Amino acid sequence: MNNQQQKEMWNGRAGASWVRHNTLLEQLLAEPGRRCMDALSPPSGAQLLDVGCGCGNQTLELASRLDASAKITGVDISEPMLALAEELKAANHTALKAEVEFIVGDASDSLFPNESFDAIYSRFGVMFFADPTAAFATLRETLKPGGQLAFVCWQSPALNPFFTAPMQAALSVLPPPPPAKPGAPGPFGLAVPETTKHVLTEAGFNKPSIEPLALELSVGASQSFDEIFEELIQIGPAAALIAESDPSLKDRAREAVYERLLEFYSPGNGVSFEANFWLVTARR
Ligand SMILES: C[S@@+](CC[C@H](N)C(=O)[O-])C[C@H]1O[C@@H](n2cnc3c(N)ncnc32)[C@H](O)[C@@H]1O
Repeated sequence: MNNQQQKEMWNGRAGASWVRHNTLLEQLLAEPGRRCMDALSPPSGAQLLDVGCGCGNQTLELASRLDASAKITGVDISEPMLALAEELKAANHTALKAEVEFIVGDASDSLFPNESFDAIYSRFGVMFFADPTAAFATLRETLKPGGQLAFVCWQSPALNPFFTAPMQAALSVLPPPPPAKPGAPGPFGLAVPETTKHVLTEAGFNKPSIEPLALELSVGASQSFDEIFEELIQIGPAAALIAESDPSLKDRAREAVYERLLEFYSPGNGVSFEANFWLVTARR
């Protein structure tokens, strides 16, 4: 399956940004991942797959929840992100109960034998497939009969100021990028629940359940606004837009984003965003 554009992106600018800002991103995004882990009920000795595991934080956290006879495999197309995952694994090996393995590969390819896993988990790693139905059908094959799928993904941009607030501010200065097709691979690739249900059903999954999850995401409680800003300005779609913009407009775009993000800051709490996710579960 051809996910070439995503491979380039996650082995290039996006992957480098996730590696550089891993600590901040994990502070922001740990909770939706935990809620998704809570939806899993892996048996003793479970074999788990973390799809699009990135820098491996969630894979390692899951491993600390499993027993010593269990194993979790993290798969990702991004070599730099998996290199950090291996470093974090080595640094945290004493806290890990289960065996952990990281594999470079496209999760939509048939990388694993049929019926390998008791459960498939993903935090924000399954919205990037060029052909989601085919990808989920392949993943379903790797589940044991009755095996569980649980993932968390973003609801629409309109409900997620983490993306829209800096983007709108940047767009007050910069020309807009070409519009993305609805459902195109990206953070909002599975934002429409009816589409997700259709994809999972077509892929052969049973009992798809898609529940809303509303959380407040906070970062930098002990930092000044300027410190947090210097990281946030380098993350996400607004960062990409500014990076590719006319150099003469960059400073004004940065200032606009600064002013907008300041509205989400309070001393002692850092920067906080209301965020809306879908918590999706299904069975083979
Ligand atoms: C938004 S990041 C999330 C990373 C990680 N799950 C987390 O929550 O920190 C999306 C991840 O999906 C990975 N990815 C995208 N398409 C993929 C594919 N076809 N197969 C495996 N990984 C993929 C990217 O390389 C990236 O690491």
